[in-house]
Amino acid sequence: MKKILVIHGPNLDLLGQREPAIYGKVTLKQMNSQLMRLAKKREVSLKIVQSNIEGEIVTLIGKAKNKFAGLLINPAAYTHTSVAIRDAIAASGILAVEVHLSNIYSREEFRQKSLISPVVKGTILGFGAKSYLLGLEALLDLMNDR
Ligand code: DQA
Repeated sequence: MKKILVIHGPNLDLLGQREPAIYGKVTLKQMNSQLMRLAKKREVSLKIVQSNIEGEIVTLIGKAKNKFAGLLINPAAYTHTSVAIRDAIAASGILAVEVHLSNIYSREEFRQKSLISPVVKGTILGFGAKSYLLGLEALLDLMNDR
């Protein structure tokens, strides 16, 4: 069975209580159950990690290439700042899809740039929790096309 690595970046552990008008009411636990259900239906396995620590995310990605067929990542605030996460994805060459709950291009100026987008296959954003499900579907379709 193919394995996918799902990484939730900083503060996403607070989903459901954190600025619900922007990020919705779905908790991380609920989101992960939805992802697991979809993975089961599509016959892949998921390893889901949430981390508030940039270096931890870099290390995870660095070790992912030979273990996982794909990466689904919401880098959260690191989207806008982390050259290290961008470089880790580029170095690993792993098939990656970036997701965001909110539409970062309709928000504050500092959020309107993703350092990650240029090194992933594609980005899905603005659909709340659905962004993750659409992102996983896209990743699985891409894997099957390879
Ligand atoms: C986010 C958008 C980021 O700007 C923000 O820092 C987050 C969440 C999103 O999913 O909409 O933490 O990645």
